[in-house]
Amino acid sequence: MLNGKKILVTGVANHRSIAWAIAKYCLDQGAQVCITYQNERLRSNAEKLVGDLPILLLPCDVSQEEEVSALFATLQKDWGSLDGLVHSIAFANKEDLKGAFHETSRAGFGLAHDVSSFSLVILSHYAKPLMEAHGGSIICMSYLGGERVFQNYNVMGVAKASLEMAAKYLASELGPNQIRVNIVSPGPIRTLAAAGIGGFSPILDHVVQTAPLRRNINQEEVAKASAFLLSDLASGITGETIHVDAGYHIMGM
Ligand SMILES: NC(=O)c1ccc[n+]([C@@H]2O[C@H](COP(=O)([O-])OP(=O)(O)OC[C@H]3O[C@@H](n4cnc5c(N)ncnc54)[C@H](O)[C@@H]3O)[C@@H](O)[C@H]2O)c1
Repeated sequence: MLNGKKILVTGVANHRSIAWAIAKYCLDQGAQVCITYQNERLRSNAEKLVGDLPILLLPCDVSQEEEVSALFATLQKDWGSLDGLVHSIAFANKEDLKGAFHETSRAGFGLAHDVSSFSLVILSHYAKPLMEAHGGSIICMSYLGGERVFQNYNVMGVAKASLEMAAKYLASELGPNQIRVNIVSPGPIRTLAAAGIGGFSPILDHVVQTAPLRRNINQEEVAKASAFLLSDLASGITGETIHVDAGYHIMGM
């Protein structure tokens, strides 16, 4: 499905990361893959995951512009072009993911938006020159909490709404270069990022009781939908949101 495609996957923290499932699936589908890790603390995790796999491993803290530009300079040198970019990054202070949303601090609000939303803009800005000669596909990971109110999701819900609109503005702007930008909205999955959200377990139980498929989804199901959007099978799709959530988002009462 992805033979010969060069795909950059950001946001690998450990074996539970959605980004890791996407990276492995893309590799299995014939892509050349580069993954990024956030900092030295996460570097050895990433190295162990990669092991002997033919995956390029590079650092990138998206809040540091010089790290973003260095990442793309390396890709320009090593690959010359890029077909796919996966944004799978989010962060908010733990105290902003519980309690009252109106108590979010100015700094916490800014941090969540910088790391979880603006990062898509800056990554796309640097990816454009590597994609524009032949087109490309950019995807980002959102959550239903960016469309509707979920208890405790708070500032991250607002950041996801921002991320989704950023993706749509980018889709409109980069479309003439045949660069597609789409949103994947997974249901809840136990990962490092999810561990920071207050009262996460009841959400998983609620999905089992109410989603049309009566179960939760897993990382591989997100990876398969992501691979579709990264592939030429999705050549006519941009600015779209695909919910990979066992159908939970369609339900009312
Ligand atoms: N797990 C879920 O329930 C769920 C549901 C819907 C959407 N998502 C989204 O999926 C994406 C991936 O999350 P995950 O669940 O795989 O958890 P995860 O913790 O494995 O991934 C989050 C990643 O963000 C990275 N990150 C944070 N700050 C960064 C920075 N400054 N620079 C670079 N990287 C940074 C972390 O290193 C980590 O790799 C996130 O956008 C998350 O909001 C997760």
